[in-house]
Amino acid sequence: MRRPLVAGNWKMNGSSETAQDLVAGIRKGVEAGLPADIAICPPFVYLTQVGGLLDGSDIALGGQNASQHESGAYTGEVAPAMLVDVGCEYVILGHSERRSYYGEDDVLVAEKVVAAHAAGLKPILCVGETLEEREADRTEAVVASQLDALLESDDGLAALQNGVIAYEPVWAIGTGKTATPQQAQDVHAFIRQRVAAKDADLGAEIRILYGGSVKGNNAAELFAMADIDGGLIGGASLQAEEFLRICRAAI
Ligand code: 13P
Repeated sequence: MRRPLVAGNWKMNGSSETAQDLVAGIRKGVEAGLPADIAICPPFVYLTQVGGLLDGSDIALGGQNASQHESGAYTGEVAPAMLVDVGCEYVILGHSERRSYYGEDDVLVAEKVVAAHAAGLKPILCVGETLEEREADRTEAVVASQLDALLESDDGLAALQNGVIAYEPVWAIGTGKTATPQQAQDVHAFIRQRVAAKDADLGAEIRILYGGSVKGNNAAELFAMADIDGGLIGGASLQAEEFLRICRAAI
């Protein structure tokens, strides 16, 4: 049985004040105990603060990006070991916003996943197609090449052993246009098969999250699909009640 995971990706939003209120609200609602893992991924500068606010709770902390390098002269970058140092368990890598705005390609993302795993983090590898690619019937080809860059790299399979994959169709991110449960399920099943072709146990065990306009009112139908093991939540993770509704849908 795969334990669901709901991770909130705050992206570049909030302040120390709003972080405090948001975490307090989420903690209050989660206290009862849920049969799912929950993670919060704030901007780097709030990790220590949010980590402190999460102390004593079962909610995990995650980063939104990390360098492929261990340390050194890389101005503005954050090493995976630094994320571990401030209490992170997870790190989101290869988010479509990193790929499209900052030029991260499949090879770089694969290097980051391997480096994050080596530092002891659980990487959340993001994959997904643009609208243009979907309309050209290239969804599987795009997702396959994003995955294969990792699966076929040295240490790539090992790096996924405690990792997570997030399927985030670019056309559904921040648009209010959610993939239908069946559209998402089809791609999730494809991803699982692709991993299973390399390692059957890993294919069966790896958690595959859906991301893209998940809200309190559509989470349950998405999470009910056989190969959807939770969600990576953007906008709706910035409101405690909405995020909690999504967490409660993950059973
Ligand atoms: P939205 O939930 O705002 O569509 O964002 C999804 C996402 O990009 C999570 O990483």
